[in-house]
Amino acid sequence: PVAVKCRLGVDEQDAEPALDALADAVVAAGADAIWVHARKAWLAGLSPKENREVPPLDYDRVARLKRRLPRVFIGINGGIGTLDEAARRLEDVDGVMLGRAAYHTPAILAGLDRRFHGSTEPPPDPAAVVEEMIAYARVMLARGARLHHITRHMLGLFHGHAGARRWRRILSTGAAPTDAGVEVLAAALAAVVGASPLDGGARGFDAADSGRDRGLLVAAS
Ligand SMILES: Cc1cc2nc3c(=O)[nH]c(=O)nc-3n(C[C@H](O)[C@H](O)[C@H](O)COP(=O)(O)O)c2cc1C
Repeated sequence: PVAVKCRLGVDEQDAEPALDALADAVVAAGADAIWVHARKAWLAGLSPKENREVPPLDYDRVARLKRRLPRVFIGINGGIGTLDEAARRLEDVDGVMLGRAAYHTPAILAGLDRRFHGSTEPPPDPAAVVEEMIAYARVMLARGARLHHITRHMLGLFHGHAGARRWRRILSTGAAPTDAGVEVLAAALAAVVGASPLDGGARGFDAADSGRDRGLLVAAS
């Protein structure tokens, strides 16, 4: 399958005809899905980072595209930070793409299968996720990777949890040396959940001390 990702338009384009014309062209060329980041790109004057923030979001424009092309898969992207927001967007379109939310607050993904895919399994426990990452890191380090290249993408895992700052600090400083090993990940996890998985003693996130912590993850799932 071929998926095309696009914006509503660029610079001074009128997003009504511009998006329709692009969609028609890519569908005619055989595209199976169109993912629309629901803001224009201002190529003249804004950096890529600014272009993810400054041009205003227009979800209705994407909803209109879906109504005009009901048989084409239309997905939406841009500024969607929670599963509740994703559910609202899914009333109008076929799919939701999370970018920064998936990266900065990955724990929200724990509730995704139950919410949208009919799963009855309990959401994955972040501590168990870390333990799997420790196993993965072991394999990658043995192949010559550096721990930092793995852990830098895990900094947001405990976002919103009371231990999040400790988690980030231990990972950031501990993984910096070129010879850092998986004990750093284990120590960071222990600082959040209260026991090291390397000792076989991690209690898991659900057993963490603070009810507020539990509520945050459950509420986000
Ligand atoms: C660091 C970073 C790199 C990105 N690189 C790409 C890219 O190569 N291609 C692309 O289509 N979008 C890229 N994006 C944009 C995202 O796919 C997404 O469209 C954008 O972040 C808006 O969605 P969000 O508000 O859910 O993050 C990037 C975003 C970030 C934060």
